Amino acid sequence: MITAALIVAAGRGERAGGGLAKQWRTIAGRPLLDHTIAAFRNAPGIGPIAVVLPAGDTDAASRFASAGLILAEGGSDRSSSVRRGLNALAGATPDRVLIHDGARPCVHPDLIARIVDALDSAPGAAPALAVTDALWTGDGGDVTGTRDRSGLYAAQTPQGFHYAAIRAAHAAHPGGAADDVEVARAAGMAVRIVEGDPDNLKVTRPGDFARAERLLGGRMSVRLGNGFDVHRFGEGDHVTLCGVAVPYGRGLQGHSDADVGMHAVTDAIYGALARGDIGQHFPPSDPQWKGAASGIFLRHAVALATEMGWRIGNVDCTLICEEPKIGPHAAAMRAAMAEIMGLDADQVSVKATTSERLGFTGRGEGIAAMATATLVAA
Ligand code: CTP
Ligand code: MG
Repeated sequence: MITAALIVAAGRGERAGGGLAKQWRTIAGRPLLDHTIAAFRNAPGIGPIAVVLPAGDTDAASRFASAGLILAEGGSDRSSSVRRGLNALAGATPDRVLIHDGARPCVHPDLIARIVDALDSAPGAAPALAVTDALWTGDGGDVTGTRDRSGLYAAQTPQGFHYAAIRAAHAAHPGGAADDVEVARAAGMAVRIVEGDPDNLKVTRPGDFARAERLLGGRMSVRLGNGFDVHRFGEGDHVTLCGVAVPYGRGLQGHSDADVGMHAVTDAIYGALARGDIGQHFPPSDPQWKGAASGIFLRHAVALATEMGWRIGNVDCTLICEEPKIGPHAAAMRAAMAEIMGLDADQVSVKATTSERLGFTGRGEGIAAMATATLVAA
């Protein structure tokens, strides 16, 4: 089941005031649209992401293309931008699509997950907040009447649909719809109302930037993960630890190069991202990883972190063994892992301890390693 995200960001942001269009204004340290994209990258279950950009925005287009996003050029109104984005997604063969305003950077991954879940049992699902304020009509000056608010909702995005159905609905719609739910309903699709989030504001007017900044700035911007691994000694004349071949009278057994330290560091990064572990990304049952250099795994974890909007703050790895002695090789190990991760050596720690001759490491049956990684918002 492929669930795609379609983020429309081809508007001119006229109500937000002059200067740079709102999707490119910096909030909480990076462009507004980058926050929106990161929220979808951090949401579980989202596959390909398409972004609809203003025509001629080549700088942004090349930046996003190299980050693996599918791109489309926007149309004259929101609906036509959505149509173009849906067409651009066709090659990714999604089963479902979540259509979202680029101007809603505070969308939380939990809300995205609620929409994805709702699509298991409905062809369409969208977030909304029941109206709680009293409703009036007015003539711009005086109140001219009141309205009953019961059964009224304020709509948000992402609005999720079965892909083929919403694409057909958009193709058939005469235009002028307020949102994709209106288009879906015009085609006879049922749309489930999912509890929205008051923080999921659409940045529209000048004052909205400060509110978005407060909301995003207050969010968790550090993540922590740990990893643990063990490999058993076998035949050999060296062990590979943290990317360095250390001469020794035995080797470590394992499907790959059995680099127990690098495996622990890699798992710490996957852990910080809440994206499983090495075994899930590189199944030991798959023959292509036999004897593989573990740098492949570590590089993948770092690339995944980057893609999800995180950079590595630091990693700390402890090797647990009586032998071989790690101290003389620690600097080379730090340098080797720093190089793979694109970090400075002072962001990478490798240290070792014995287990006082206790347990399997104490008896010299194998080597264990534990690691911690912190990730900070990129
Ligand atoms: N949008 C789009 N293509 C358009 C118009 C709007 O992709 N032709 C996108 C906007 O970039 C925004 C979302 O649709 O992410 C919601 O639209 P809105 O908040 O109205 O943004 P703008 O149209 O950019 O702002 P304004 O109406 O103030 O000019
Ligand atoms: Mg608009």
